[in-house]
Amino acid sequence: MGFGVFGSILVLSLFFKPLASQQPNTDGFFVAEFLKNMSVTYSEFNFSGSVCSLQGVTCDADKENVVELRASGLGLSGPIPDTTISKLSKLQSLDLSYNNITSLPSDFWSLSSLKRLNLSSNQISESLTNNIGNFGQLEVIDFSSNNFSGEIPEAISSLTRLQVLNLAENMFEHNIPSGILQCQSLVSIDLSSNQLNGSLPDRFGAVFPKLKTLNLAGNNIYGRDSDFSGMKSITSLNISGNQFQGSVMGVFHEQLKVIDLSRNQFQGHISQVQFNSSYNWSNLVYLDLSENRLSGEIFQKLNQAQNLKHLNLAHNRFTRQKFPQIGMLLGLEYMNLSKTSLVGHIPAEISELLNLNTLDISMNHLVGRIPSLRNKNLQVLDVSNNNLSGEIPSSILKKIPHMEKYNFSYNNFTLCALEISSGTLKTKFIGSVDSCPIAANPILFRKKSAKHSGTKLALVLTFSMICLLAGLLFLAFGCRRKTKMWAVKQASYKEEQNISGPFSFQTDSTTWVADVKQATSVQVVIFEKPLLNITFADLLAATSNFDRGTLLAEGKFGPVYRGFLPGGIHVAVKVLVVGSTLTDQEAARELEYLGRIKHPNLVPLTGYCIAGDQRIAIYDYMENGNLQNLLYDLPLGLQRTDDWSTDTWEEDDNNGIQNDGSEALLTTWRFRHKIALGTARALAFLHHGCSPPIIHRDVKASSVYLDYNLEPRLSDFGLAKIFGNGLDEEIARGSPGYVPPEFSTSDYDTPTPKSDVYCFGVVLFELITGKKPVGDDYPDEKEENLVTWVRGLVRKNQASRAIDPKIRDTGPDHQMEEALKIGYLCTADLSSKRPTMQQIVGLLKDIEPTANL
Ligand SMILES: *[C@@H]1O[C@H](CO)[C@@H](O)[C@H](O)[C@H]1NC(C)=O
Ligand SMILES: *[C@@H]1O[C@H](CO)[C@@H](O)[C@H](O)[C@H]1NC(C)=O
Ligand SMILES: *[C@@H]1O[C@H](CO)[C@@H](O)[C@H](O)[C@H]1NC(C)=O
Ligand SMILES: *[C@@H]1O[C@H](CO)[C@@H](O)[C@H](O)[C@H]1NC(C)=O
Ligand SMILES: *[C@@H]1O[C@H](CO)[C@@H](O)[C@H](O)[C@H]1NC(C)=O
Ligand SMILES: *[C@@H]1O[C@H](CO)[C@@H](O)[C@H](O)[C@H]1NC(C)=O
Ligand SMILES: *[C@@H]1O[C@H](CO)[C@@H](O)[C@H](O)[C@H]1NC(C)=O
Ligand SMILES: *[C@@H]1O[C@H](CO)[C@@H](O)[C@H](O)[C@H]1NC(C)=O
Ligand SMILES: *[C@@H]1O[C@H](CO)[C@@H](O)[C@H](O)[C@H]1NC(C)=O
Ligand SMILES: *[C@@H]1O[C@H](CO)[C@@H](O)[C@H](O)[C@H]1NC(C)=O
Ligand SMILES: *[C@@H]1O[C@H](CO)[C@@H](O)[C@H](O)[C@H]1NC(C)=O
Ligand SMILES: *[C@@H]1O[C@H](CO)[C@@H](O)[C@H](O)[C@H]1NC(C)=O
Repeated sequence: MGFGVFGSILVLSLFFKPLASQQPNTDGFFVAEFLKNMSVTYSEFNFSGSVCSLQGVTCDADKENVVELRASGLGLSGPIPDTTISKLSKLQSLDLSYNNITSLPSDFWSLSSLKRLNLSSNQISESLTNNIGNFGQLEVIDFSSNNFSGEIPEAISSLTRLQVLNLAENMFEHNIPSGILQCQSLVSIDLSSNQLNGSLPDRFGAVFPKLKTLNLAGNNIYGRDSDFSGMKSITSLNISGNQFQGSVMGVFHEQLKVIDLSRNQFQGHISQVQFNSSYNWSNLVYLDLSENRLSGEIFQKLNQAQNLKHLNLAHNRFTRQKFPQIGMLLGLEYMNLSKTSLVGHIPAEISELLNLNTLDISMNHLVGRIPSLRNKNLQVLDVSNNNLSGEIPSSILKKIPHMEKYNFSYNNFTLCALEISSGTLKTKFIGSVDSCPIAANPILFRKKSAKHSGTKLALVLTFSMICLLAGLLFLAFGCRRKTKMWAVKQASYKEEQNISGPFSFQTDSTTWVADVKQATSVQVVIFEKPLLNITFADLLAATSNFDRGTLLAEGKFGPVYRGFLPGGIHVAVKVLVVGSTLTDQEAARELEYLGRIKHPNLVPLTGYCIAGDQRIAIYDYMENGNLQNLLYDLPLGLQRTDDWSTDTWEEDDNNGIQNDGSEALLTTWRFRHKIALGTARALAFLHHGCSPPIIHRDVKASSVYLDYNLEPRLSDFGLAKIFGNGLDEEIARGSPGYVPPEFSTSDYDTPTPKSDVYCFGVVLFELITGKKPVGDDYPDEKEENLVTWVRGLVRKNQASRAIDPKIRDTGPDHQMEEALKIGYLCTADLSSKRPTMQQIVGLLKDIEPTANL
């Protein structure tokens, strides 16, 4: 729509000759004033005739009064002035959507005959008052996508004829007023994406006899399944992203077509649904129950939902179950069963779902091959993090170039990836084994390359790179197994130095065994120096047979030793003694992957070795110890994560801080800030720069090291994964003092980036207060841990009392207090309230001390 555009009217407006429609106090005058004030293109409107002839204007029978004004998308901007459209005394319908209006006039609420009001998609920033009660005739309100704030006024109760209420995407807060219960004509309510909280008014479910659509998504509303039990007419219900509890079955109604209960706290055995025959599944078009806490098995009756288009059951706590029956869901377009504990094979009947556009079955325990998916419309496919194997059917590989998104990583696929670019291979097929026969067998290699002789140089190059890579992998694995000719050759020329195993080593807390026969036959992979040919024998030599004297720490994952490898590489050797559920190959793949992750604030993984059951991770040695040493003046020698002692610590030149005169530096705010920012950058990189994101799961002071240049570097990232699922729970729960509240309940929650954020918050508190997370003296006696102590002070606005006296005078108090507030945000009880690491980096940069402090 739009008003007529007539250049010649410029002349009229210049002369401003009052025309009939612009006589003062006529509707034409008010409309002209309104447009003149709000529109920069006023001169283009043709006011020479009656206002009623303007496009978008409808008048009543005697052509005197405007009853409808449609001015959507006309670029109107700024506040609406008084004494303009508010004076259109007969106005029934006003549409000002898609403009840049910033506020309503004070006389707006005199438009008492309005029936339809559409202000959506403007920038109106104000709160509604009880004046809205003047609009007793209103049938349709659309205020969506503005910046309205404050409470929804109680006087909404006067709008008894209201059928459509759309306040979505504003900043309304507090409870939904009980006044809404009077609006019994409501057919559609959309309050989504606001900041509403509290619970629904009593009897909310029972009072709207005509209600068809209810959208409360994206607020913070509390409630139960029973809140919806009286809604007999409802066909579309969206309460996604709130705090609703109870059983999902309590919400289902016969006539519901669209159900979105995602991201709430619904729980209970979902299998009970199949015993309830009262529900007619054939109406269902859209079902999203993802990100709740549902248990049990997916209901068998699902297969009766023959009109279903969208199905999302992802991220629940179902028991291990076979792939549900879906063969009858022929209309299905979107299916998301990610993290639903599926075991067994993917049924071939998936191929029958001809409309399928999105299939996400990632993070399950599916085995076997992917069936040949003939679904023509498939655009998104995620099968990552399963235990699928074999080759990927060519019907799928052919589709890949045309797909929007796909991920095959973390399975056990074998693929001969000639058609796939190496970039794609690295990001979407992580962990797949190269099965090009040519990689393993030079004769086949020649055959194959002869066959492809006509292909482009680039292809040949990619191809040989893949083969080179495969060759290196082959070196790593083949030699260890001693079955391949490479290994035989190595062993023979190192024969004199044969050292035979199995080898057993003891530390204070554990004994570990490297079950290898010949130390020289077990390869140590050093990523940057593939030609060095280092073996387990060299590791033995470097650490004096893993002598206690070279022990640096006994951490949660196992002992850490220090040594020099051939070529003068100074390393920390971490033995991951805790039992792992990953196979050697999977562990090696994971370590290879971690070796590729580089960031100036991460301790680089230099290499690894798989010696019998032990996975050994090799890191660059960090000369200046870790943050725990620094903060609590611990010596840089032996220290244990939980219980460290000094008596076995050996005096050694290298155990002091390496940089001269740096001791003073360590007790400055600037330096503590630098450590905080560096650590935050490392985590932001793991969370936001890696795909899939890496969750550290064990952020703590002793994981933050200082390198030769006193740059902070985070260590141990990605290790939890090497243990597979067996230890998930223990590792995820973190170290004492660093356990986020979501893990301290008996309900086991999976770690998320937000659990790392919590731990980072604790480290930040340590940096500023100089106090340990637990067991230190906190001046407020009743507090037994750092987090509750500091949070209490921040809340009372006494944060400055928490600042470490050692750094107090080395920087402005307000910066340190601000940093404590950031820690406060990070340690919020509700993980959703915590900022992301990216945001934290931004916040910390804002309080960066200046160089001349
Ligand atoms: C619009 O109206 C307001 C208040 O009546 C006035 O301050 C402003 O100058 C007007 N703007 C234009 C472009 O006429
Ligand atoms: C402006 O509108 C009047 C009345 O509707 C019409 O007669 C006149 O031709 C229009 N002017 C132009 C330039 O189109
Ligand atoms: C609103 O204003 C912004 C700039 O302030 C401009 O980019 C946008 O196009 C305007 N929108 C409309 C509908 O006029
Ligand atoms: C309000 O206007 C917008 C944009 O023109 C439109 O999409 C929306 O449907 C309207 N709202 C109502 C309730 O008619
Ligand atoms: C929205 O309103 C708030 C105050 O309620 C204000 O601080 C903010 O700047 C507004 N945002 C926009 C985009 O107008
Ligand atoms: C609801 O939010 C307001 C601020 O938006 C807050 O003051 C109030 O405590 C909250 N109520 C509940 C029950 O969370
Ligand atoms: C429910 O609302 C959320 C948030 O506005 C939205 O993302 C989702 O698509 C909605 N669900 C349905 C079925 O429309
Ligand atoms: C079936 O669900 C309805 C609610 O929709 C409930 O009232 C009824 O008790 C349930 N029946 C069984 C057998 O669970
Ligand atoms: C379910 O509803 C469909 C359409 O509304 C109807 O045809 C069918 O008979 C119903 N089935 C049962 C078992 O009530
Ligand atoms: C599947 O659902 C999960 C949980 O809501 C979500 O994170 C994921 O992005 C979804 N997958 C697709 C392909 O939409
Ligand atoms: C993967 O499946 C194979 C059998 O196909 C089984 O031997 C192996 O243990 C499984 N691995 C995991 C991690 O579940
Ligand atoms: C991966 O597949 C190979 C054969 O293709 C098999 O030997 C190996 O056991 C598989 N690994 C796992 C973890 O299933």
